Amino acid sequence: MSRIPLMAGNWKMNLDHLEATATVQRLHWALQDANFDFNAVEVAVLPPFTDLRSVQTLVDADKMSIVYGGQDVSINPAGAYTGEISARMLVKLGCKYVVVGHSERRQFHGETDKLIGGKAMAAVLSGITPIVCVGEALAIRKRGEHVAYTLAQIDAVFGEMAQDLAPRAVIAYEPIWAIGTGEVATPADAQEVCGAIRERLASLYGRQAAWQMRILYGGSVKASNVASIMAEADVDGGLVGGASLDPAEFAKICRFAEHIA
Ligand code: PGA
Repeated sequence: MSRIPLMAGNWKMNLDHLEATATVQRLHWALQDANFDFNAVEVAVLPPFTDLRSVQTLVDADKMSIVYGGQDVSINPAGAYTGEISARMLVKLGCKYVVVGHSERRQFHGETDKLIGGKAMAAVLSGITPIVCVGEALAIRKRGEHVAYTLAQIDAVFGEMAQDLAPRAVIAYEPIWAIGTGEVATPADAQEVCGAIRERLASLYGRQAAWQMRILYGGSVKASNVASIMAEADVDGGLVGGASLDPAEFAKICRFAEHIA
């Protein structure tokens, strides 16, 4: 398998900059103690903006292999956009990734697929990898329309991106009903949608590009369920919320390969 799995911890609006450095330090120690192979699984943390400088300083000073990124980015490069953070600012802080279109931003900030596609494009143009979030609400799943709904999000978001740059994105399939609820999708549920997303990416960008793109699953991922989800063919990692705030638990999630039954 040529795709290196990515485990990304989405801290959301948790942990101040002092807690952030303590958490990253403990995560690093937990992985180091377990002789973790950082070349086999990429480990990322996605802290609040106010933590990024402290995380950068720590990661650089201790030459950690943990990478990091932001949880959102402006569609605009610079200017009179109060409260916004540009992709260039994130690059300056050493960010490798940025989340765009998380369901909480779609829900609480009215973000549209068009805006999200623009943000993803702003990220790739600056050299940051966007983690593009898609996924259906419970009512849509109950109607059996989750695949069509999620693919329509993919079409709309990626329609805003240049054909040659879009394959640099990572996708995160996060069924909204599984986020923060303890309600995890079954491995088959995750595979059904992640597989359909890869097929759609193949028709947009060709088989080879689609084969290389990483598709994450997110929604109540824990150490106890990660291995079975990661065993699915088209799941290349996890976007982990609550469980990533506990460095011991997140380290176990990153070590999923050791507990595949
Ligand atoms: P959760 O969040 O792991 O707490 O369900 C996932 C996410 O929202 O990215």
